[in-house]
Amino acid sequence: MSEVPLIHPAAEGDEGEYTAGRHGHIKSYVRRAGRMSAAQENYYAEMMPKIGVVYAPQQIDLVAVYGRIAPKILEIGTGMGETTAKIADANRDNDYLGVEVHVPGVGALCKQIAERGLDNLRICQHDAVEVVRDMLPEASLDGVHVFFPDPWHKARHNKRRLIQPPFVALLASRLKPGGYLHCATDWEEYALQMLEVLSAEPTLVNSADGFAPRPEYRPLTKFENRGIRLGHGVWDVIFKKR
Ligand SMILES: C[S@@+](CC[C@H](N)C(=O)[O-])C[C@H]1O[C@@H](n2cnc3c(N)ncnc32)[C@H](O)[C@@H]1O
Repeated sequence: MSEVPLIHPAAEGDEGEYTAGRHGHIKSYVRRAGRMSAAQENYYAEMMPKIGVVYAPQQIDLVAVYGRIAPKILEIGTGMGETTAKIADANRDNDYLGVEVHVPGVGALCKQIAERGLDNLRICQHDAVEVVRDMLPEASLDGVHVFFPDPWHKARHNKRRLIQPPFVALLASRLKPGGYLHCATDWEEYALQMLEVLSAEPTLVNSADGFAPRPEYRPLTKFENRGIRLGHGVWDVIFKKR
């Protein structure tokens, strides 16, 4: 493993205002067991020193990070990174920042970045709420992707969902005028929450009449294809910053 710091997962009973305080807001994730494969570990050690953006509670200059002026897209919760890598590969004129706390997922994405030779994708391995709050300047992003965020099905866990009014307001403040916030989920009740929360954010306007058709830039995942065959739904919610 390289010296990039590991995550600091939520302590049991760690609660409080969703975006309040430097520490202590409700986390949208919990510690997950999972070892890196040898390949993931090697790619992590090779790539993170080159493409890792280390969390620090101070604003970054995204143009300096990528060394060019180009549209900047944030992806929250990259998981194993297949979608993230495909999108960055297909859109080399855009710069992407993937944020993920799950270490094996970061290792898997490092492998994709190396194999595809992507120089427009960086990874920050940290809680996205803190990354957005502490590191990203206002009006610095052209787009935000939140694809299949953990649905936290049980009512008592709903408070862990990412898409809630305070965080959406924070995300909206980081978008440039005309920038977009794109959420997708296969959990209908969360889809309705996304639509409701984004609709209630005064600085955002719906790009569609309700749910949006899946735009071409979001590739279908294997798991989504299987769900569609089984008759399950997937909902896209895409709003623009006024
Ligand atoms: C259900 S997975 C979806 C992954 C991927 N977007 C996809 O479509 O396959 C959600 C991911 O979000 C990550 N995640 C949840 N909360 C996060 C946070 N606050 N900051 C960074 N990553 C987070 C989890 O670790 C997990 O990998």
